[in-house]
Amino acid sequence: MKEFLELISEEMQNAFEKAGYDKELGRVTVSNRPDLCEYQCNGAMAGAKKYKVAPIEIANKVAEKLKGSSVFDSVEAVMPGFLNLKVSPSFVSDYIADMAKEPKFGYEEVEKKTVIVDYGGPNVAKALHVGHLRSAVIGEAVKRLCSYAGYEAIGDIHMGDWGLQMGLVITELKERKPDLPYFDENFDGEYPAEAPVTIAELGELYPTASSKSKEDPAYKEKAMEATLKLQNGDRGYRALWKSIMEISVSNMKGIYDSLDVHFELWKGESDVQDIIPDMIDYLKKNDYMHLSEGAWVIDVKKDSDTKEMPPCIVIKSDGASLYNTTDLATIMDRVKKYPLTRMIYLTDKRQDLYFEQVFRAARKSKLIGDDVDLVHIGFGTVNGKDGHAFKTREGGVMRLEQLVSDINEKTYERIMESKQMEEDEARRIARTVALAAIKYGDLSNQPAKDYIFDMDKFTSFEGDTGPYILYTTVRIKSILNRVSEEGYDIEKAAPGGCYESAQKALMLQLSGFNAMIKSAVTEIAPNRICAFIYETANTFNRFYHEVKIATEEDAAKKESYIGLLKLTRDIIETCIGILGFEAPEKM
Ligand code: ARG
Repeated sequence: MKEFLELISEEMQNAFEKAGYDKELGRVTVSNRPDLCEYQCNGAMAGAKKYKVAPIEIANKVAEKLKGSSVFDSVEAVMPGFLNLKVSPSFVSDYIADMAKEPKFGYEEVEKKTVIVDYGGPNVAKALHVGHLRSAVIGEAVKRLCSYAGYEAIGDIHMGDWGLQMGLVITELKERKPDLPYFDENFDGEYPAEAPVTIAELGELYPTASSKSKEDPAYKEKAMEATLKLQNGDRGYRALWKSIMEISVSNMKGIYDSLDVHFELWKGESDVQDIIPDMIDYLKKNDYMHLSEGAWVIDVKKDSDTKEMPPCIVIKSDGASLYNTTDLATIMDRVKKYPLTRMIYLTDKRQDLYFEQVFRAARKSKLIGDDVDLVHIGFGTVNGKDGHAFKTREGGVMRLEQLVSDINEKTYERIMESKQMEEDEARRIARTVALAAIKYGDLSNQPAKDYIFDMDKFTSFEGDTGPYILYTTVRIKSILNRVSEEGYDIEKAAPGGCYESAQKALMLQLSGFNAMIKSAVTEIAPNRICAFIYETANTFNRFYHEVKIATEEDAAKKESYIGLLKLTRDIIETCIGILGFEAPEKM
């Protein structure tokens, strides 16, 4: 379906043309004075310069041509030359009736090409903490948004599962349990099926090893040797690595599941090790990289750069590959496997420069063609109320599991304060609401901005919060349930007709759905969806307070209200589904 604004702009453009002016002047925008009008057109102001007449003269002539328009109910030319517009109730209600019949409420899908969203990015053997929240939450929403838009969207977790961190863990484990068969060079039997460490031990091994290696150069040396041994394919080390991967991944899955975050691909840095030599050959053969101080690098500087742009190092002087190398190889691998149109990476914005280097290196060396967009979304930090990175009450790093359980508890208390419910049910609802609180609290901000994780604010049932959106959705559902229990066939009700101003306002709000999705997709901005549903919830609540819905006696009016309620519910539920949460039946 054409966008609503486009349709009314067309009507305005025709009027400009009929009045003898350039069509292009007739662009309509949403009013910035909602107290005066719904939409406005400022074309007469621009036209005045072009035609050397007073803007009001143009505005008057255009308004004249719109007399009897079926699109506008009122067109007012006001000084110095604005056109203040109200659309006709039947025009918007017809549009809404059409939206309700369309599969995606009038949003038209893009061409079905593949988009890879690279998000999550946890490092194996390190516990997931609050720093991993945004990548998971924003990435999941971006992926779902792309797939709603019509792309084949693939989420890849891209674990850090190969570097020094693995060597550190192995080294520490060897110190503690030297008798494990993995460390016995002569062992040629089957390695144990069970992992040699629990997840709790694993979580403690890495930080211990990491601080030891900072203090003790000999220890660090051992860890680097272990890393190399693993990478060179030592049988015991590979088996140990595999075993650590298994428990670590299954633990991560549990945490991501609790956030309703799911990946199509569980790949990592280790998966491209086999293709790195081919890539190196290719880069060398085509002179894309050169030696600089013993390291192989790709120059990525451009004349237009205003900041320093160091070269992208592909192989270190000691011959080792690094983070860059795996990312370049991963690009090569993905390009080969999928008909890509775009790759979107989500990490902390501190990796902005890094991704700029990698993207430039990939383009320059033609590992990827110009037909594929490479986008890095660098997000800001999750802060506490003190403005510093979010911590536990004791000042430690906040584990993701802990954060989820704290907010579940808080939401549970809030539910129990306002309603009497069985404990089990309240706990179940609390989990659903808490997830909305976390995700909406994050996604309603622009990704690049830092935000304050304010548990009290996020879990509030009022204001610009996830729970408020859910509360409104539940309100709509419960009206529909009630009417249905009273014997009204809600399935048949379709929106149509417009009887009240609050109803019209809600319809105008919903009419912006397809345009909103389109800009959310192009700008990769889930925050646009949040803004849209917040406004929708507010507009709906005004309608709910001003108009009697369930008790309306006029059959036509009632049907139009119920139809509109269903559409509002469906649109909000679609939006929150994209954001990655859902509404409970009651709360
Ligand atoms: N593991 C990385 C980190 O902790 C994030 C990975 C992001 N994805 C990528 N393709 N580099 O910083």
